[in-house]
Amino acid sequence: MNIIVCKNYAEMSNVAAKMMSELMQKKPNCVLGLATGSTPEGMYASLAEMCERGDISFENVTTVNLDEYYPIAPTNDQSYRYFMNRQLFDRVNINKANTNVPDGTAKDPVAECKRYEQLVSDLGGIDLQILGIGRNGHIGFNEPDTKLMLDTHVTDLTEDTIEANSRFFASANDVPRRALTMGIGTIFKAKKIVVLASGASKKDAVSAMLERTVDTNFPATMLNLHPDVTLICTQDVLD
Ligand code: PGA
Repeated sequence: MNIIVCKNYAEMSNVAAKMMSELMQKKPNCVLGLATGSTPEGMYASLAEMCERGDISFENVTTVNLDEYYPIAPTNDQSYRYFMNRQLFDRVNINKANTNVPDGTAKDPVAECKRYEQLVSDLGGIDLQILGIGRNGHIGFNEPDTKLMLDTHVTDLTEDTIEANSRFFASANDVPRRALTMGIGTIFKAKKIVVLASGASKKDAVSAMLERTVDTNFPATMLNLHPDVTLICTQDVLD
């Protein structure tokens, strides 16, 4: 795993945005795998600024997001569709029809996961996948378990994740209990993976990932099996 250590959150965000922008310049019709959460917000702001300046264009870019709560409406301000529109898609020249987030309103969530898996396959995989890392080591909503699913699937959120994400909701009771998420195999279809981590709360998760072992109870450790992963983190994650 390549590691890039940054002095602060702003630098981490800029380094990640630069990596994405270089890919977009080299391959204007690239497929970007995107993530939600607090960590990539600065990167999205930086990409929006680059686009505003005319340095990059999203005109021919396709995006696929990792996951979505279930059930949730896209108009709910805690949905990941809403997050992506606000953080990036509404701020750049992307064709919204080319932005993909699992459908939190699907009547049949299993069929929706099948559709999504096929979509990623039909796109020929992902050129660059951005990942955050949960305090419990989850990637996407692949939560710690004795088995990990390879394909996009419906999953129950762990209490730890519900508690961590309750900061965005009125209370922990309002956090949806389920989600639709790419599986480990879907994520591994990405040619290149970039993991972002910032802040001391990610210390344990990152140090477990850097141990060079794999443990399904710590899904991020699976990334040690992928040939092209770069961790971009702030110094305090490694202290
Ligand atoms: P965060 O979430 O960026 O809000 O810390 C990361 C994650 O849970 O994957």
